[in-house]
Parts: sequence; structure tokens; C-alpha cells
Amino acid sequence: MSGPKPYYITTPIYYVNDAPHIGHAYTTLACDVLARFKRLDGYDVKFLTGTDEHGQKVEKSAAAAGVDPKAFTDRVSQNFRDLAEFMNFSHDDFIRTTEERHKHACQGLWKRLMDKGEIYLGSYAGWYAVRDEAFYDEGELSKGPDGTKVAPSGAPVEWVEEPSYFFKLSAWGDRLLAFYDANPDFIAPASRRNEVTSFIKGGLRDLSVSRTTFKWGVPVPGDDEHIMYVWLDALTNYITALGFPETEAGEYATYWPADLHMVGKDIVRFHAIYWPAFLMAAGLAPPKRIYAHGWWTNEGQKISKSLGNVIAPHDLVNQYGLDPVRYFLLREVPFGNDGDFSHTAMVNRMNGELANDLGNLAQRVLSMVAKNCDGAVPEPGDFTSEDRELIVWISGLREGLRAHMDGQTFHLYLEAVWQAIRAANVYVDAQAPWKLAKEDTARMGTVLYVLAETIRQIAIVLWPFMPGSMDRMLDQLAVSPDHRKIKYLDDWLVSGTALPKPEGVFPRHVEEEG
Ligand code: MSP
Repeated sequence: MSGPKPYYITTPIYYVNDAPHIGHAYTTLACDVLARFKRLDGYDVKFLTGTDEHGQKVEKSAAAAGVDPKAFTDRVSQNFRDLAEFMNFSHDDFIRTTEERHKHACQGLWKRLMDKGEIYLGSYAGWYAVRDEAFYDEGELSKGPDGTKVAPSGAPVEWVEEPSYFFKLSAWGDRLLAFYDANPDFIAPASRRNEVTSFIKGGLRDLSVSRTTFKWGVPVPGDDEHIMYVWLDALTNYITALGFPETEAGEYATYWPADLHMVGKDIVRFHAIYWPAFLMAAGLAPPKRIYAHGWWTNEGQKISKSLGNVIAPHDLVNQYGLDPVRYFLLREVPFGNDGDFSHTAMVNRMNGELANDLGNLAQRVLSMVAKNCDGAVPEPGDFTSEDRELIVWISGLREGLRAHMDGQTFHLYLEAVWQAIRAANVYVDAQAPWKLAKEDTARMGTVLYVLAETIRQIAIVLWPFMPGSMDRMLDQLAVSPDHRKIKYLDDWLVSGTALPKPEGVFPRHVEEEG
């Protein structure tokens, strides 16, 4: 008998040079929603997140804070764990690259690459941007505002000359292009795929994969003068968490290759070029898919510490509530595009879609049931064509929703659910159960049953986005926790089930005076 299908999803691991901000919360939120949906849909999910703690950037931040790197990374890594808890993220493992299991995995991967003749010792002379932890060719640089050279990201670069091990990346260009051709869904969205293929067509050079001028990293096996390049170290986290270098048994055998590495658009080159090349060179399977999402700006401005406009997830959640923020981030902007955070847009979504469309619908229906049906699921009579139309609409959503999750089109998923919610609101106005309460209580029971059932199904499919609020809504419909699953969508509410006293789930946001 075969068990549930595995689904392995990862976030990038976050640099611990900085306090977590909305951009970090966004990447993990998208993964959390996917992980929750897949669990709801019966998959055996492993969802990994964590922190990227080695390299020059972190070492410098620790020095600036006047603490040793270990103490510094312990502290900042904890902030990311706290954020994950605060945002109600449901990861199964939190990896830190300073852990022993990770050193073991990195060195195991290095040895495989060495054994296969994919790494050789040479010396590097070229440009390096600490902020990006990336090497750049002269041709990629431009002049910054003060006349000094900068990377395409705007990061300052410095000239580095040192002995270095190299990975034979130049030999992988054609094989990578062939791999993308054979796996058209490997890089999404399509615009990112074009960016990656044109970078490869420009010619790949061998990649420097070790450093000697600082110590904060994983030592190269057999050559303690060198530590591994932080991106080789960081990318390996995805298999460390599966128990690599053990590959024949255990979690690696179950979950690798990963179904999805979610990343931001700034780090697509590392994930779509370097990572599959390292893996293929080591004789390991590349991941199935890389999705690169866009970046948030704040009221039209790039988010940066120097501009003082960093959005702290805590502040946002304290102001609007957790689930409205989770909803907004994935509803407001077509996933994959850049997006702008604005207070007005947040309040509009929260009041218009959560409080009015969904919150009012549930509140109206549940209060009528409490008042007119003895606080129990009503008994439906024969369905009219209007009743059937609504139920068929709701029940017909799931295949499209699955496809939206697999394509990471979260905004379209939510739009499809909201069309159904709007249809339910049109239905409730047209059927006017408050009038039926006086004229035809049997028909009222049918209408309220259809509506309660609609709300149940909607709450289940919205649960991955707003688990806390949807659990409260499902509690009010007395749906048992183990029945909150896609496979139970067709198990309709049982008439006569006693329901708890209804309470509103989505308050309106009211501007404070002054
Ligand atoms: N440590 C590397 C990743 C290594 S993965 C093997 C790294 N870390 S990061 O902390 O700088 O960024 C992590 C993620 O946050 C990236 O996916 C990045 O795109 C995302 N974001 C950072 N700022 C962002 C916005 N303003 N908006 C949206 N996402 C942003 O890169």
C-alpha cells in the first residue's frame, strides 16, 4: 500500500545580519500557505525554513555589534524563529547553518564534488559584493552615485585576490539549458526563466567556491586554510535537513528532490543555476521547481534601513491583526510581481473583503441560525435551482484551486473564492431569509442550510491563508478539527448539530482619532 504523497517545500534561509522585515515574512508566508494547503489535501508535507549564518556579511555585522559571531547569530536567528511563531508559520524544521548536521552535509557534498573532479584549486582575482555575497564580472558592474563601482543590485564591490577552489561551472551551461528545456516548469514565472537562460547564454565561468581571508564558515575538508563559499554552504541546507550525506534511506529518500524552492527574484541565479549544477555534478537530482516572487515597496519607495521605512511584521500585525495581514500580502499583488504596501490598500481589503464580504456573510447567516433554528444546523427541504447553483459553484472550486496552488497563483485562488463569496451574498439578498422567517420557515431552513454549508466549504479552502480565523469560523459550524480537509469537502453539515453562539471573526479597521 502506498502512503500519502510527499511534498517538500523550502524558504530561503535568512541572513542573520538584520532584523526580520516584511520581505522575509512574505517569502515564508507563501510557503506556509502552500504547505498548509498540501496538508489539507492529504500530502505528507515537509516544510523547511531557517537561517543563513556564515560568511563575510554576517561576520561584519557581528563585529559592528561588538559581539562574536556565534553569540550574534544565536541572537538574530532567534528573532527569525520568533517571527515564524508570531506569523503562525507551520514549518516542520528550522535549520541553522552553524549546526553540526549542516557542517557534515556541506563537507559531504564537497567530497562528492572533489571525487568527481568537479572542483580544482586555483586563485581568484575579481570583484566581490559582500552585501550580495556574490562574485561579479567587470562587465556586470556600473558606476554608483559617488562614482565607485557597484553590482547590478546597487551593492558596493571590492577587489578580492586570494587562493581559491573553483567549481567547474563553465562545463554546465549546455546541460543546464537542456535541463530547463526538458523541465519547462522548473523556473517560474516565465520572465525569470528568460533572465536565467540569457545569463547562461552569455557564458558561464568557473565559480570560486572557497575563501581564505576570513574564518566564519565551514572548513574545506582536507584544507583548513579555506572555508566554503557561503552560497555553496547555504544552498546545501535544503539537503542537510533531509539527513544528507545519507541518501539511500531516511528523509532524503522520501522527500528529495524538493517540490519547490520558494525564493525572491534577487536570488534566482543562485537557485536556478548554481544549485542544480552543484547537484548534478555531485550525481544528485536537481529540485523540481524554483519560484521567484517579486519585491515589496512601502508607499511607493524601496524598503531600506537608510530610508527608515522598513516594515516590521510585528507593527503591521499589531495594527491590523494577523490574518488580515496574511490575507492582504497574498491578495493585493499578483504573486511574482513587485508590489506596493500602502495603508489605504490594506484597510480597503480588510474592510471590503474580510469584514464586509466574508465576515458579514458568516455573521448574518450564523446569527439567523442561532435565532431562528434553535442554534442548530437547519433541516433543508428540496433544493431550488438557485440553491443548487450556489452549492455547485462552491463545490466546483477545488480543482481550480489545486491548480492555482501548484502554479503559485495565490491571488487567483483568492479571487476565485471571492467570486463564490460574492455569489453567496447575492443569493442571501435575493432569498431574504429574514423575510422567510416570518413567511415560510421551511424554506428559510433550506436557505440557511445552503448558506451554512457554503460557509463551511469556503472556510476550509481559505484555511491555509487564515488558519486562526477560519478555525474560529469552523468552530462556529461545529466542524470537527479532523474534518477540516479537502477530502471532506463533500461531507455536508448534518442537520440538527448544535452550534455554539456565533461571534464576528473579522472586525472592521477603524481609524484612531488624532
Ligand atoms: N541568505 C540568502 C538566501 C540563501 S538560500 C540558500 C538571502 N537571505 S536574505 O535574508 O537576504 O533574503 C531572504 C529572502 O527575503 C529573499 O527571498 C528575498 O527576496 C526576500 N526579501 C528581502 N527583502 C524583500 C522585499 N522588500 N520584498 C520581498 N521579499 C524580499 O538572500
